[in-house]
Amino acid sequence: MQRPTAEAPHATGHRVDQISECPVQLDDVDLFSPGAQEYWFDSYRILHEQAPVHRIPGEGGLPGTDAFILSKYDDIAMVVRDPDTYEFYNAAEGDEAAQAIFREQGFGTLGDTWDSLRPTMEEHKRHRMELTDPWVALPAAERHTPMIERAAHDLMDRWIDDGAVEFVKAFAAPLPQTVITTILGFPLEDMPMTRQWEEEQVKRFVYGFSHKNLLSVEDEKANAEALVAFQHYIGEQIEEKRRNPKDDMITFLLNVEYGPEKRRLSDAEVVSVVYGMHIGGNETTQYALTAEAMLLAQQPELVEELRADRSKVRFFVEEALRLFAPTQGLSTRIVTKDVTIRGVDVPKGSMLHLRYGAANRDPDLCPATDAIDLTRKNPGRHLTFSMGPRVCPGAGLSRLEQNVAVNVMLDRLDGLRLAPGANDLTHQPGIMLGLWELHLEFAKRGGLD
Ligand code: HEM
Repeated sequence: MQRPTAEAPHATGHRVDQISECPVQLDDVDLFSPGAQEYWFDSYRILHEQAPVHRIPGEGGLPGTDAFILSKYDDIAMVVRDPDTYEFYNAAEGDEAAQAIFREQGFGTLGDTWDSLRPTMEEHKRHRMELTDPWVALPAAERHTPMIERAAHDLMDRWIDDGAVEFVKAFAAPLPQTVITTILGFPLEDMPMTRQWEEEQVKRFVYGFSHKNLLSVEDEKANAEALVAFQHYIGEQIEEKRRNPKDDMITFLLNVEYGPEKRRLSDAEVVSVVYGMHIGGNETTQYALTAEAMLLAQQPELVEELRADRSKVRFFVEEALRLFAPTQGLSTRIVTKDVTIRGVDVPKGSMLHLRYGAANRDPDLCPATDAIDLTRKNPGRHLTFSMGPRVCPGAGLSRLEQNVAVNVMLDRLDGLRLAPGANDLTHQPGIMLGLWELHLEFAKRGGLD
């Protein structure tokens, strides 16, 4: 998401300035108020100590139900592994009017095609294995490594002689966009346009109200109309691939023989899979890359350690993902029967807000949870991508992009540091942890360019 400016304010007109203050007691904790992200890690400490299962009265999925914020690693891991007791709730779906717009003017809602592609958990697994794993999961995604390296170098070539860069706009945002655009098979020259649609896709997670990411009635309508236009763009790409098949994911989805009956996907189903890859494949990885660059700029000794032993880069990436989870929390599960979690009664119908970012900093997960530790015994043990049957399908691709990008930074940039006086290190609103900007200074690494 790009930072709104006086010339280009955000269409929603929501407040994005900081009004939260550092919480000192449980009553002060509100993870969803404007500016709250600047104090999330302080809030997590209070939640862990005083309310690891924290009720938000009246905020469940249906009238009369409550929501609960879970912040402990073990509790969230238990919930996401038990899809019968904790049913998936689609946090990306708009209100009824928005859904009608998708059905009447576009290719239907995400939920509609999920129902036809993967109505049961078994089919959910098949959908992963047959449709998305061959493109965005490891080890298959490893074949994208040369393309990702080329994209990273090309982007860096544009600013490496300047000695300074605004990293989000010049690298962290365009790298994942270039990668997912190439994998899907969208024309690269369309990226300015597809970026606008991508911002519409994540709008509710940035500008939405409360833990439910709600938009106003007018914003829901405008958002659905913009995203219907994106669906039609995907539809045009489908037609183009029918005429001119290529080695890309859209062509693959058009020709795949799916399931035991080896059926072809409908256009609406292809649109839906592509739509999911596009929303997942962009901003989340942007935030991870930004956090990694910030850490490298703040800790020169870490740069030296990684340069001395490149096998540590993957541990660094995991620790950065753990500490700065791009998706800090999602309200994505509904409780299907009365349960008790850590002594708190959670009635049937409650909505759970899974706070992955807090679970990653849970003192019961590992000691010194707020510091990078490249020697951690289980480096991938965090909930940044969730886990269980609905674990993020693009985790492998994202990890690959981050490993490539960190190695390219280590190869080509010396003396990386935060540009003095240029950074406020503030974050966009919503439930994602995304720095608005990151101004860096550096020298071009001797003899390598
Ligand atoms: C650092 C980068 C990323 C983070 C932090 C992230 C995080 C997540 C999380 C927390 C979920 C929810 C899982 C659940 O409900 O239990 C998810 C789902 C999803 N992610 Fe990612 N993701 C990332 C990158 C990607 C990429 C690169 C793609 C695609 C190329 C992707 C595609 C998806 C899709 C399609 C889903 C929905 C899966 C389903 O419900 O079946 N994500 N992701």
